[in-house]
Amino acid sequence: MATYLIRHSPVLSGEVELNAAKNAVLPLLAAGLLTEDPLIIKAVPRITDVETLLQILRDCGAEVQRSGTDISICALHPQSPTHEDNMRKLRASILILGPILARSGSACVGLPGGCAIGQRPIDLHVKGFQAMGAQVYPLGGKRQLSGRLSGARIYLDLPSVGATENLMMAASISDGTTTLENAAKEPEIVDLANCLNQMGASITGAGTGTVTIMGVERLHGAIYSPISDRVEAGTLLCAAAVTEGSVLVRGACAEHLRSLLFKLSEAGVGVRETHVGVRVNGMAASPFEVRTLAYPGFPTDMQAPMTVVALKCHGTSMIHETVFENRFMHVGELSRLGAHIRVENNVAMIDGGYPLRGAAVRSTDLRAGAALMIAGLMAEGETVLNDPAGHIERGYQNLPEKLRSLGADIEKLENYPL
Ligand code: UD1
Repeated sequence: MATYLIRHSPVLSGEVELNAAKNAVLPLLAAGLLTEDPLIIKAVPRITDVETLLQILRDCGAEVQRSGTDISICALHPQSPTHEDNMRKLRASILILGPILARSGSACVGLPGGCAIGQRPIDLHVKGFQAMGAQVYPLGGKRQLSGRLSGARIYLDLPSVGATENLMMAASISDGTTTLENAAKEPEIVDLANCLNQMGASITGAGTGTVTIMGVERLHGAIYSPISDRVEAGTLLCAAAVTEGSVLVRGACAEHLRSLLFKLSEAGVGVRETHVGVRVNGMAASPFEVRTLAYPGFPTDMQAPMTVVALKCHGTSMIHETVFENRFMHVGELSRLGAHIRVENNVAMIDGGYPLRGAAVRSTDLRAGAALMIAGLMAEGETVLNDPAGHIERGYQNLPEKLRSLGADIEKLENYPL
């Protein structure tokens, strides 16, 4: 679907502005199914995951309107989607389940897809709805859930972002009080809770391990501006960390990027927090060790870009992937560029400091695609990055253009034979 030609770009400098966070916007759009009033989400990025979710919301009976970059969702009578293919295109499609079930008393959804980075089950979502009183039936590859939901104490075996969001949305219009223990603490959870509270929900504790939701009879509409994209910020910071120069990422929230900023500093990159964003100077040089964890730990979404940063550092860096079981697919592609990386179980050992040389590589998932784009900047000569599934445009609005504005030599090749 897309091919990029990337030429060696040793210097990046200047300023670049972030978009709103994909992982905040997707649940916020799904929250539009919780009320019959319009919910307006401001400055929504133009990415294919958003387009796919909007198609799903329309399929669920919602009216979707755009005004510039703002999107309004109005769902008088939400119902289960009929087109399973769209559900398979992104993981966040499962976030329609809670709102439809809570609004209409039943929901039937196909299993979600998204990046092939692990099994990505939905058992924690389903167990939570069962604890709230839903009956669950498998139905030809789909899940049918029905019943009037009421408050429950729910312990999540893992602090799943999606399960926390789905249950929080459903509980906000269910009878009684729901407590989520071992809830995810990501900034996008706080953002969703803030929006739901603005819509009339009563949620406390978002951003901690215990979230309490007192159900209310109905939510009303709102106008909401989502937080900036910390993964886009991290991707641009990693690109700056493997090149010379000074880059200011405007709109980056240092608090949301704490673990990454620590690790970039440890690698020898100059990091400065300013009131308008985060600035990085100089290149990564010293090896480091990283373990991906739920927030506030190091984000799994930054693991692939950070692997590329490790390639710049002289010595051996170690990256432990503990969140998803199949998230080192970019390693094989990086090897085509001459990277020295061994993977044993869930640990990548990266011998950095060797030159990379341009080659043809393939994007295997969203963040892997972005990481390969960054590696292309480091590599001598030309790198052709093939992205047959359009992964990069699923999650980044204008990533090549943003890098180009900093001095990168990247072009999207139209009609390139895949
Ligand atoms: C979200 C993010 C994704 C990020 C991930 C982890 C969105 C749209 N996507 O995905 O970018 O990589 O968080 O930070 O916000 N799990 C189960 N059972 C479940 C649910 C999850 O075992 O029912 C496991 C998963 O397989 C994984 C771990 O829990 O190992 C974390 O997954 P989760 O936090 O749910 O990720 P997503 O919400 O899918």
